[in-house]
Amino acid sequence: MKTFTSMSQWQIYRDKLQQDSIGFVPTMGALHQGHLALVEASRKTNMFTVVSVFVNPKQFDDGQDFKAYPSNHQADLEQLEKAGVDVALVPDAAQIYVDDYRFKVTEMEFSQRLCGAHRPGHFDGVLTVVMRLLNLVRPDNAYFGEKDYQQLQLIRDMTTAFFMPVNIVACATVREADGLAMSSRNQHLDTRRRRQAAALYAALKNSCTANDAKQTLIGKGFEVDYVEDIADRRLAAARLGNTRLIDNVQI
Ligand code: PAF
Repeated sequence: MKTFTSMSQWQIYRDKLQQDSIGFVPTMGALHQGHLALVEASRKTNMFTVVSVFVNPKQFDDGQDFKAYPSNHQADLEQLEKAGVDVALVPDAAQIYVDDYRFKVTEMEFSQRLCGAHRPGHFDGVLTVVMRLLNLVRPDNAYFGEKDYQQLQLIRDMTTAFFMPVNIVACATVREADGLAMSSRNQHLDTRRRRQAAALYAALKNSCTANDAKQTLIGKGFEVDYVEDIADRRLAAARLGNTRLIDNVQI
């Protein structure tokens, strides 16, 4: 596996790549089985797989949350190498925001709802970094988990809106044995809250209505940002202490 911290070095390398098919998995590191499933999906379909590890400061609406975000680049790179990744991109913020964030992507409708309504600027940060990463990597296929369902829809819509020549591939949420969706943030849960956290998936799956699910979660000690049914999905975000969990199920 080759690792690039300099994006100009990477671009020189990328220009020489002649692979038929390039798959890309953008991540913020603190890798778990969910990320590795995206890598596996990419490796199945593509000749060459690129993974980025970049904790994007622009998608955090809360500075404390950014500081506390789990990060272990060395362990991440070891896992990626073992998983058969061809290239890891590990830029710092100056490499990505060469313009000091003068330019950004804003979606005006769906991004203002659900997580967007509770995290101002979050989706501007996500869409902008994904646009930049896709332009840097120029992959044929890019892989995103369904756990971040709103993010997935917005990225898909962005690539259509801007005529970006990339296929966005959705991968099923990977869950722990008790149903909790895998997430880097799960590391923040203490033993008691980790046990409580499984109730999120159960409530979404087993309740008749979104409001029933919300009441169940409040009863189980969650602070609920939202539970909403949109088309065939029930989506939720809820907090246990300082840890914000999101999940969604098909209804
Ligand atoms: O889902 C994530 O980990 C991030 O939002 C992403 C897509 C890597 C952009 O920073």
